[in-house]
Amino acid sequence: MSQNKYFVIDFDSTFTQVEALDILGEIALKNHPEREKRLKQIKDLTDKGMEGGISLRESIIERISILEAHKSHISELIERLTDKISKSFKRNIEFFETNRDKIYIVSNGFKDFIVPVVTPMGVKEDHVFANTFEYDSSGNITGFDSTNVLSSNQGKVKVLQELGIEGDIYVIGDGYTDFEIKKSGVANKFYAFTENVERGSVLEEADHITPSLDEFLYLNKMNKAISYPKNRIKVLLLENIHPRAVEIMKEEGYQVEVYAGGLDEDELCEKIKDVSILGIRSKTQVTRKVIEHAKRLISVDAFCIGTNQIDLQACVEKGIAVFNAPFSNTRSVVELAISEIIMLMRNLPDKASLMHQGIWNKSAGNSFEVRNKKLGIVGYGNIGAQLSVLAEAFGMEVYYYDIIEKLALGNAKKCSSMEELLNTVDIVSLHVDGRPENLNMIGEREFDWMKKGVVFLNLARGHVVDVKALRKNIESGKIIGAGVDVFPEEPKTNQDEFVSELRGLNNVILTPHIGGSTLEAQVNIAEFVPGKIIEYINTGSTFNSVNFPNLQLPAFENAHRLIHIHKNVPGILANINNVLAKHDINIVGQYLKTNESIGYVITDIDKEYDKDLIGALKDIEHTIRFRVLY
Ligand code: NAI
Repeated sequence: MSQNKYFVIDFDSTFTQVEALDILGEIALKNHPEREKRLKQIKDLTDKGMEGGISLRESIIERISILEAHKSHISELIERLTDKISKSFKRNIEFFETNRDKIYIVSNGFKDFIVPVVTPMGVKEDHVFANTFEYDSSGNITGFDSTNVLSSNQGKVKVLQELGIEGDIYVIGDGYTDFEIKKSGVANKFYAFTENVERGSVLEEADHITPSLDEFLYLNKMNKAISYPKNRIKVLLLENIHPRAVEIMKEEGYQVEVYAGGLDEDELCEKIKDVSILGIRSKTQVTRKVIEHAKRLISVDAFCIGTNQIDLQACVEKGIAVFNAPFSNTRSVVELAISEIIMLMRNLPDKASLMHQGIWNKSAGNSFEVRNKKLGIVGYGNIGAQLSVLAEAFGMEVYYYDIIEKLALGNAKKCSSMEELLNTVDIVSLHVDGRPENLNMIGEREFDWMKKGVVFLNLARGHVVDVKALRKNIESGKIIGAGVDVFPEEPKTNQDEFVSELRGLNNVILTPHIGGSTLEAQVNIAEFVPGKIIEYINTGSTFNSVNFPNLQLPAFENAHRLIHIHKNVPGILANINNVLAKHDINIVGQYLKTNESIGYVITDIDKEYDKDLIGALKDIEHTIRFRVLY
């Protein structure tokens, strides 16, 4: 960066997130009967002035008269504005401190509040150019110094002309008056600052659009507080992902593109090229070919439970972390299971359907309470364990069987075999995962092990039950009621017919794979997955990743974090540490975890280091990916 670069920065909606006169209005009109109406008038006048719709002087005069403000309101205003300094300005305070002599604040606002807000950030008082209020003898704001050029059109241009700065002038602002400086030829470049507001007419004129000060510093190769401007992280969300997820990712500063539908392989190969984060649901196939087309992909994220649609191995080989939402809809499945158990024990599906045919069949036959009944849970994972807790609250006696050791919750009893469990219980509920070995896990033999008159639920995966055998056992009366939500073959769309041997049976609840489909679950997923992504991007933490070694990392402060992903071959950690030693690096913390494919090494080091270090680490053989965080 050349020595002769000067920075002219706007105040309202640029240095601070807000328009100061709007806030002054909120303070001054606190108890005014026309408060809302007047605040709206002030906002409209600000916008008109900013977009070049009315003359600046008119806009200031009118706003001051509506405000009815007083000197005593100014100190509260300063406090509130200080709180609202733009986030990227706050974190880049070093930019203001190190470039004090080159930074000017030029604003059509008022020095009365601008100076006290900007000087603690390092800006020089005599580098602030703005209007000043006029007060009457009782302290009411009655007007402004109309001889100040900043109260007139082209005022900013005039200030810069008078300053006669020799060097390149870069203007950062959100309004038309900021662009005018460049237009007049006084400044070299105009950066439209969009962290707080975006004004269409201004964006069109900008040399660059900068969604944050980080982006400005990045473009100008200057030191910045964070390693990479977040607006450069492009997110592609497919398949109608819940708007809450979009909102969270935008709040984080990412550039988010949303598609209601999915994309096929070829479309995705094209779109994926410059995408950093890809969010999908169950339909989009993220194949090896798609992954090979990705140039900047950091993470693929399933906004659902299953990840079969993603080539996890292809992702891991390219150092792309995959996350999903393994328990965001757990509660929804459990509630459906509980309700079905109760309904089936009361023979409700039949009773309700008879009523619709006009048949009144009042009887207690085949109707039972669930209290004191024995519930058998096969698969004591997220869902099985949660069901265990709720079922006990209903007074049921819970038994479970799992192939791995699981802690029994409450008074649940562990069974040492499937046979023992099925021999014991009155109700069987399956909650195993869909691994291939579980194909037909429940067949003739297992139905034989069950007691007569059992209730049976499968809300897990269709292929884990031999459906023919299930039908036979329902027809024979061995199973007195069944709830099935998942099927070996499910219709691809709502337009396709549901074909199954389970249709047309008494006391059988069939549902279209909706165990986890609730609005609450959708919101949970929309909050959980972005949380994982943001944590991974900001800290490197891979906890709960589906394909990466799981590392939960401590926060890092006053350090740079080096993230090294490599093929899992012997000796890499030693190579990394040799490079660090050669560069005399002081290691603050180091974490390593591997899986069959990759090694994941995090090294926190002191902030001061020779920049050649980065190249040397990237050059280590078998490195898949390397990034620095700060
Ligand atoms: P999880 O992975 O937390 O639990 C599965 C448990 O089953 C594990 O503890 C595992 O050790 C155990 N397991 C696997 N094979 C077994 C076997 N042969 N015998 C005994 N135990 C076995 O999974 P989570 O979240 O509890 O989900 C369970 C099932 O529910 C999955 O199949 C999932 O696809 C399904 N699901 C269905 C939904 C729906 O809409 N109906 C929604 C959400 C999940």
